[in-house]
Amino acid sequence: MNGTAPLILAHGGAGSRSITSEQQELLGAALRVGYHLLDRGAPAATAVEQTIRVLERSGRFNAGLGARLQLDGGRRMDASIMEGKNLQAGAVASIEDIVHPITAARLVMEETNHVLLVGPMATVFANHFKLERQRSPALRRRVPYGALLKRTKPISSRHGTVGAVAVDRFGTVAAGASTGGIARMLPGRVGDTPLIGCGVYADNRAGAVSMTGIGEGIIRIAAAKAICDRLAGGAVPIDSARQVLKMLVARIQGSAGSLVVTPAARFAIVHVTPYMAAGWWNGKGEPVVGDRFERVSIPTSR
Ligand code: GLY
Repeated sequence: MNGTAPLILAHGGAGSRSITSEQQELLGAALRVGYHLLDRGAPAATAVEQTIRVLERSGRFNAGLGARLQLDGGRRMDASIMEGKNLQAGAVASIEDIVHPITAARLVMEETNHVLLVGPMATVFANHFKLERQRSPALRRRVPYGALLKRTKPISSRHGTVGAVAVDRFGTVAAGASTGGIARMLPGRVGDTPLIGCGVYADNRAGAVSMTGIGEGIIRIAAAKAICDRLAGGAVPIDSARQVLKMLVARIQGSAGSLVVTPAARFAIVHVTPYMAAGWWNGKGEPVVGDRFERVSIPTSR
């Protein structure tokens, strides 16, 4: 093993609501799970997956058992994971009925030659690997499409996507995210979370990023890759994230938060929303968990 000191960060969404005490405890517990794996020499991707699984299983975030319903009553979830040594990535979109979409994403990365599986065939894939199913599958309703369209606006600023980034003892970084999407979404809507370069990115020559917030904006500026490009250019995590989030607000009035870590274990938690439920731990003292970190606030003029 080389001498990199491991570090893990996790988030439970960015938006207009402050963190609950239950969410605070869960994020702390998730960080402990991830850090202890890293401490024992596990790869960053394993720590990221296992940290996210704690949050998916809790039902207290918008992911896994707590995933939001789409306007037809369906629960379609998205997740992705990426590691920075070989730029391997896996993702699922609009997957249904399973507890841990992040594990389905990891299996896409490790068991296939593909990066992204979507819809019913992503669910078939998860079932093939016998991933745990939700006990109460969502029941879809038939709703006239025009009525669905009318209900999609405005976009809500309450989200709870979960995610994590980590650096392991070997200096490899990884990023992951898992979500039930946003409020009032059309059936089949997919956000940034399963899109590599938008919701997550990881490259040992730059760092790892996990995004949360309203996916439509995050996609339009390819936020995670944009932050990594700045890291690769020599900017520190906080400046890299600030620059991209400022652009998100100034150009398209987006709403998001980001976790950033480098292979040298420098990190930042930056958001434009009033709150971002998040935390980090390097094994010293107690995990640091809260809902206000570095906030980017700038005028929204174009
Ligand atoms: N960031 C999660 C989503 O927009 O779906």
